[in-house]
Amino acid sequence: MTTFPSDFIWGAATASYQIEGAWNADGKGESIWDRFSHTPGKVWGGDTGDVACDHYHRWPDDIRLMADLGLHAYRFSIAWPRILPDGRGQINQAGLDFYSRLVDGLLEAGITPFATLYHWDLPQALQDEGGWPARTTAEAFVEYADVVSQHLGDRVKNWMTLNEPWVIASLGYLMGVHAPGHQDLDEMLPASHHLLLAHGWAVPVLRRNSPDAEVGIVLNLGPQVPASPSAADRAAARYFDGVTNRWYLDPISGRGYPADIVQSYQRELDYIQPGDMDAIAVPIDFLGVNYYTRGIHRDNAAKDNLPETVHHTGESTEMGWEVHPESLYDLLGRLHFEYRFPALYVTENGAAYPDLLSDDGHVHDADRISYLRRHFQSAARAIAAGVPLKGYFVWSLMDNFEWSFGYSKRFGLVYVDYETQQRIPKDSALWYKRVIETNTPDA
Ligand code: FCB
Repeated sequence: MTTFPSDFIWGAATASYQIEGAWNADGKGESIWDRFSHTPGKVWGGDTGDVACDHYHRWPDDIRLMADLGLHAYRFSIAWPRILPDGRGQINQAGLDFYSRLVDGLLEAGITPFATLYHWDLPQALQDEGGWPARTTAEAFVEYADVVSQHLGDRVKNWMTLNEPWVIASLGYLMGVHAPGHQDLDEMLPASHHLLLAHGWAVPVLRRNSPDAEVGIVLNLGPQVPASPSAADRAAARYFDGVTNRWYLDPISGRGYPADIVQSYQRELDYIQPGDMDAIAVPIDFLGVNYYTRGIHRDNAAKDNLPETVHHTGESTEMGWEVHPESLYDLLGRLHFEYRFPALYVTENGAAYPDLLSDDGHVHDADRISYLRRHFQSAARAIAAGVPLKGYFVWSLMDNFEWSFGYSKRFGLVYVDYETQQRIPKDSALWYKRVIETNTPDA
């Protein structure tokens, strides 16, 4: 039987823009995702987060839902423009009050809050001043972290600074498929640095305002593997590992930016100032790992000299992402044995499938149960091999706004009927409840 340590933390995750709605309620400022989703052609079907799951108004019901599932912990994010509508300066008390009530409600229900400060909804006012490519945004983030932790730091004891800086910098400033929709390597590179700097500067502030708290950062990570054992394909995989994984893992571990990738960008990196790399390397209490899939790559020298990603032929989720649970074991092992973070959490793992509400009123998502079970088993193997994995957050508690895919992709344990806002726990939710009760995915 697969077992987990008795103090293992089972949770579920969400993010503010994906579930809250109430995009302009009670003094909230505009975020870059409000602006992006309101721009025609940016999001599938013209979907927006204006209403989303209406969690801003329905949070007491949602806490009851979590309690029914038996969750130990809940990972959510705080919307910066609810707290500081202009990104800095004037504080919006109603925004703080919302999260304060949420945190109190969670604690009353016996659920430990894990708060992420930044899950992509930058105040538009800061984007208007340059966004993450500007160093001043990192300075504003520290002010925001200070305000939030002064108000919630007595009760929130698990903090994550950023969610997935690679996605923020690359999808937002290089590929243009996420807000703010720019496509410029000379924005992406300083954005990645200022994100890491924001993290590094915020950690001591969080520790000061939230005594005894555990503080970390969340990275999206996955093994990047070669399509064949050839040296050229291995180099291609190493390159992708560098731009996605090592570009973030190395600096936060005090190793600086990976030299091979610095060279490949052919840029000066003149935005790095004295002291920055030390600030970024501030010790953390845990690394949050978002794992969904691996990447397969091959050399492409014959064509245009850039390595390329190969489409997998394996089992697939509705996102087209390969289902590869063994990679979670490999990843956790590598993170522990190569980087030695004091603790690890899986802060996101889950899958989208074309869920249907059946005539019997249920959602029979056997494929999601199978996905989660195999990933939980992989995590258990990693723990048995010595990896200090402390907890696991399924993405997501409920169906929600899946960024540029809008509402077309459902990742939830709980089905959301967007017409009525009814929440219907899927079969996977009921199964997860048993996993938590019995502490084994064999349930
Ligand atoms: C991650 C995001 C999360 C969700 C999942 C599917 O990259 O952090 O908000 O969209 O992907």
